[in-house]
Amino acid sequence: MKRIAVFASGNGSNYEALACACDEGAIPARVALVVCDRPGARVVRRAADHATECFAFDPKSYASKADYEAEIVRRLDAAGVDLVCLAGYMRICGPTLLGAYGGRIVNIHPALLPAFKGAHAIRDAFDYGVKVYGVTIHYVDDTIDGGRIISQRAVPYEGDDIDELERLIHATEHPLYVETVRRLLTGGPAERNNDETNEKREKI
Ligand code: GRF
Repeated sequence: MKRIAVFASGNGSNYEALACACDEGAIPARVALVVCDRPGARVVRRAADHATECFAFDPKSYASKADYEAEIVRRLDAAGVDLVCLAGYMRICGPTLLGAYGGRIVNIHPALLPAFKGAHAIRDAFDYGVKVYGVTIHYVDDTIDGGRIISQRAVPYEGDDIDELERLIHATEHPLYVETVRRLLTGGPAERNNDETNEKREKI
């Protein structure tokens, strides 16, 4: 049985979707670890509800990013994690984490990349007057939302209610993340990727 880790900083609805899909067998894996950089976040309570091991840490209590990432890597190794799924993890992965798990880290982003990178993608797209929004799942590298794209889904919306738009985008994220993770773990249609990443992906 493959093992997934989910990294999140806030609500954790994508964690919940992945955990439920594992519980129901839609993904042939289990969520072995949640990593959260905000100990008070809702995702920590969700992890407890699913009895998922959770490493919640305060970055300020570490001397450096390299130090807390080294601790994360130790925990990923101990849990035997095959694939890391970022889901609202509001930190950039540094060299320590990428050095150990690069090619096995994916992220979900609430826009059709490469448009609207960054932390306020939905608001930025809305303010721009976009008519077709969407969701992207991509490999994580040392750029912000810049790694190679794995899957995307469009969300057409021409209304003027950003709350409604956010609901539509989140409702699109959950099934897309489940389908994509299942495909990655079961070696579905090969993803186009660079050689180095493909080499690392063989470990998934
Ligand atoms: C999602 O919109 C995801 O695309 C973005 O952060 C949000 C996380 O939502 N990266 P949740 O915490 O999974 O509910």
